[in-house]
Amino acid sequence: MISRRSLLRAGIGTAAAVGGGGLVAPLLTAGVARAADLDPATIVKYAVPMPLIPVLKPSMVSAGTSYYGVTMQETAAQILPGAKTRVLTYGGSFPGRTIKATTGRHTVVRQVNALDSPTAVHLHGAHVPPEHDGSPMDLIAPGGRRNYTYPNTQSHANLWFHDHAHHYESEHVYRGLSAFYLLTDRAEQNLPLPSGEFDVPILLRDARFDADNQLVYVMDDFLNRNTILVNGKPWPYFQVAARKYRFRVLNSTNLRFLTLKLSNGGSFTQIGSDGGLLATPHETNELKLSAGERADIVIDFAQYPVGTSIELINEQGPGPMEHVGKVMRFDVTRTAKDDSSVPATLRTLPALAAATVNRTIDLRMDEDGRPEPKAYINEKLYDPNRVDTEIRYGTTEIWTVRNVNQFAPHNFHMHLVQFRVLERNGRPVTSGPESGLKDTITLTAGETVKLQATFTGYRGEYVYHCHMFDHGAMGMMATMKIV
Ligand code: C2O
Ligand code: CU
Ligand code: CU
Repeated sequence: MISRRSLLRAGIGTAAAVGGGGLVAPLLTAGVARAADLDPATIVKYAVPMPLIPVLKPSMVSAGTSYYGVTMQETAAQILPGAKTRVLTYGGSFPGRTIKATTGRHTVVRQVNALDSPTAVHLHGAHVPPEHDGSPMDLIAPGGRRNYTYPNTQSHANLWFHDHAHHYESEHVYRGLSAFYLLTDRAEQNLPLPSGEFDVPILLRDARFDADNQLVYVMDDFLNRNTILVNGKPWPYFQVAARKYRFRVLNSTNLRFLTLKLSNGGSFTQIGSDGGLLATPHETNELKLSAGERADIVIDFAQYPVGTSIELINEQGPGPMEHVGKVMRFDVTRTAKDDSSVPATLRTLPALAAATVNRTIDLRMDEDGRPEPKAYINEKLYDPNRVDTEIRYGTTEIWTVRNVNQFAPHNFHMHLVQFRVLERNGRPVTSGPESGLKDTITLTAGETVKLQATFTGYRGEYVYHCHMFDHGAMGMMATMKIV
């Protein structure tokens, strides 16, 4: 059960501190009776296997449409050894089951809200009509239901769905309303990439537990969510064969930036990002993901003898690195044959259209230590009744997005479109992890990116915002209207 108090807190936009800069968080827990925090050191690392996220079965399949039914409900999940944890779920699973979809076929998801707070189900990264986008004010009341129809006209992409109800999304997602939606197409299926049991979605998030194993939600609590969960379990291990695996990685945290590496410094291949495969594979030993971003990577364990263990580590704080610096462990336990490969060309990206409109978007939040910091886009707080940006249907625009904070990191997410990154800090982006289709992009303090998007397909209102959910709730969100 979400406490009224924490919802109220979110509602009035009170926040502990900005995401960075070492400002000290005032105590927000005063008056909330709960047990002391669970010390993450008491959770044995690499003691439990990483679960595979089950795939949701359609309730009905017709020639052109797959139908699903999901009930948003509170459940007790086995996350930590010992007592169960109360979580909010899509369909009783933590995290939610994966929906698999195919370009050209429709998906209809009937979402029933059995929670005691309003919800909005947003399919992140999807090109959908506004009434199916799950936008912040388009709510499903407690006890209500809603059919979301996804036309799946875009190319393959690792999408995800999560709650987006205004003032509730941060706590709802934190408590478990998050799941993969994997869209595939012929072009992707024709590639010889690792598939079947060697194609593994990994949902990463952090959490703060109390001594009764219950989730503790405090808004903008970036310093205290120091337990890392992978597919719903703390610091698991995953037994692999000595061959190539494809991992579809989602940063489903509310606030945390991840810099992922293998503990032996080993290299791997990034093959995709938010909006599907990159044009060409990117050999690297580092994967950076801000909240909401996805990456598709291939790790070849054939280079390691059976018996090798390699940790997936995170080199970025905040938090004690002996905890937040560890993610999971791969144990190479057997050999296996491997017919898969990573082709030198993965896809052809759509040609960049000529842009005719330029805009500047400034992200800023109060970081002077004031008690109730707010967060702004172009110096305005989110107002769902205001249209901030009017866009002519069919236009291609260049948005120069700047993080004008001195300390606080942000990221930037647009609904409706997959954008292209033209430049980062004045340097052209022509290869690497940001060269594909993106819907969410990191902006650390002082950074500037130049994005290009074409606004076509649907008219209507969509939001764009910082995807550090608590920043969105503090005001860093705005509305564009395609007319
Ligand atoms: Cu992940 Cu506005 O969305
Ligand atoms: Cu989104
Ligand atoms: Cu932000």
